[in-house]
This record gives sequence, structure tokens and C-alpha cells, in this order.
Amino acid sequence: MSYQNFNLEGKVGVVIGGTSGIGRAIAAGLADAGADIVPVSRSPEKVRDAVKEIESKGRRSLAVPTDATQREDMERLADTVLDEFNHVDILVNSAGTIRVGPFLELTDEDFDVVMDTNLRAVVLGCQIIGKIMMKQGRGKIINISSLSAFWGQPDIIPYSISKGAVAVLTKSLAVEWAEYKIQVNEIAPGFFVTPMTSEIFNNQTVAKLTENHIPMGRFGKLEDLQGAAIYLASRASDFVTGVSIRVDGGVLINGKLKF
Ligand SMILES: NC(=O)c1ccc[n+]([C@@H]2O[C@H](COP(=O)([O-])OP(=O)(O)OC[C@H]3O[C@@H](n4cnc5c(N)ncnc54)[C@H](OP(=O)(O)O)[C@@H]3O)[C@@H](O)[C@H]2O)c1
Repeated sequence: MSYQNFNLEGKVGVVIGGTSGIGRAIAAGLADAGADIVPVSRSPEKVRDAVKEIESKGRRSLAVPTDATQREDMERLADTVLDEFNHVDILVNSAGTIRVGPFLELTDEDFDVVMDTNLRAVVLGCQIIGKIMMKQGRGKIINISSLSAFWGQPDIIPYSISKGAVAVLTKSLAVEWAEYKIQVNEIAPGFFVTPMTSEIFNNQTVAKLTENHIPMGRFGKLEDLQGAAIYLASRASDFVTGVSIRVDGGVLINGKLKF
């Protein structure tokens, strides 16, 4: 291939939540495009397994189990990655969790765990890795948002609040850091079956209803997300910042009314 702007050889990426589901698929895709990748999460076993996958692709990696909601943990992660690689070019914020239930039944703990995982971890990732990127004078940040940042969805309101906040953070940082040549963008996935959503979509009625509402007629496959991530991590997107790329089979713009 002669078009080289998608080539990520020589780049180093940290993927928070890169040991499962969407983050893991993105980590693998970025490695396939040439990047060395550090897939991060709390579980040492999951981290080890994800690191093995990256190394099996001939890329370098590093096992640093990290709780992304904890500033000290994230600072230790950043130091360890810098010691090993000397630079960080790509940050993907994909750690996430969800609590399902009517608004009045959700507990303080439900709110706290969702906001900590889906928002605080993104803020910490952007601050701590973003500081390194600022010194470098370059960087690509990709936040994983959600369609729930765009529409009103019952029963997952803390989740939607956290994702709405990530969408605003993405746009605001895109403007604040443009002068440092750091692009901050987001991917808003549609419906994907992962450990986070399997409990919801194991219900066949819910799964069928959901599928019927997706214009492309199917759930997303995790590899559907890799192209958008490679684009946003690469030179090909150097003049693109503050955007949201939906990878959703058209579900958000589905105005189809069944008469
Ligand atoms: N699946 C979908 O349909 C969908 C749709 C839209 C958006 N998303 C978003 O996509 C992202 C990934 O979700 P997923 O569906 O791929 O879920 P998943 O398979 O459950 O992955 C979540 C990842 O986050 C990590 N994680 C959770 N808490 C963490 C913490 N405190 N510190 C570090 N890592 C943590 C988990 O690993 P450990 O447990 O080892 O920490 C795991 O690697 C989330 O932000 C989610 O909101 C998903």
C-alpha cells in the first residue's frame, strides 16, 4: 500500500480498559497498524493475557495492572510507560461500567462507581498522559463515548450522564490543547455484546428489539471499531479534533417509524 498515513509504526499507545471488549479490540487494531501498545486494566490476569496478544503480533507491550480511577496508580502507569518507551503518542480511554435500573432506585454507590469509572478515569487519563503529550508537542486522545451521550435513554441515567460529560470533555480539551498539536476525539459505539452488556443482551427479547432498530440489521462486531480508532490515532486525522465518530450501523439517525 502506498498511502502511509495510517501506518502507526514507531508509535506508542496506552489503552485504558484495553483488556476486554471494545478497548481490547481497539488495542489489537492499533497493534496491527504498527503501534506498540500497553493495554491497561485492574485485573493482572486480563492484563497479562492482553499483553500476550499484542506481543504475538510482533509489537512491544508492558503489563502494568492499574486502577484508572486512582491518580497514584495512573501516575505510576505513566512513569513506567515513559521509562520503557520514552514517549506516548496515543491514549484510548475505554474503561467503563454500567448500572441498570429506574432512576429512583439507583443508589449513591451506583452513581459513584459509574462516574468514577466512566468519567474520573477519563479525566485522569487525559491529565496524566496529556501532560506527557503536551511536553512532546503532539498526541492523539480517543475517548470512548456512547450513543447515550446523544439521546434520552431510560434505566441507565448515571451511565448517560457520565458519557455526556465525556463528550463535553472531548470537545473542550480539543480546543484547549489544539495549540499543543494534541487531537482529542471520540468514538461513539452503537450496540456491541461485551462483558459489560452481555447481561442486558442475553435477554433474547431485548436483543431482537435492539437488532430490529439498527438499520444495518445487526449488532456491531468488535473489529468494526478498529478502522475508526486507527484513523483517529494516525497522521491521517492530523486536522481532525473534537469530533465524534459513531460506529453504530446507523441506529442513532434511524428516523424510521413503523406504521
Ligand atoms: N458494549 C457496548 O455496546 C458499548 C456501547 C457504547 C459504549 N461502550 C463503552 O465502551 C467502553 C468499553 O466497554 P466494553 O463494552 O468493552 O466493556 P468491558 O468488556 O466490560 O470492558 C471494560 C474494561 O474496562 C476495564 N476497567 C473497568 N474499571 C476499570 C478501572 N477502574 N480501572 C481500569 N480499568 C477498568 C475492565 O477491566 P478490569 O475489570 O480488569 O479493570 C475492562 O478491560 C466503555 O467505556 C463503555 O461505556 C460500550
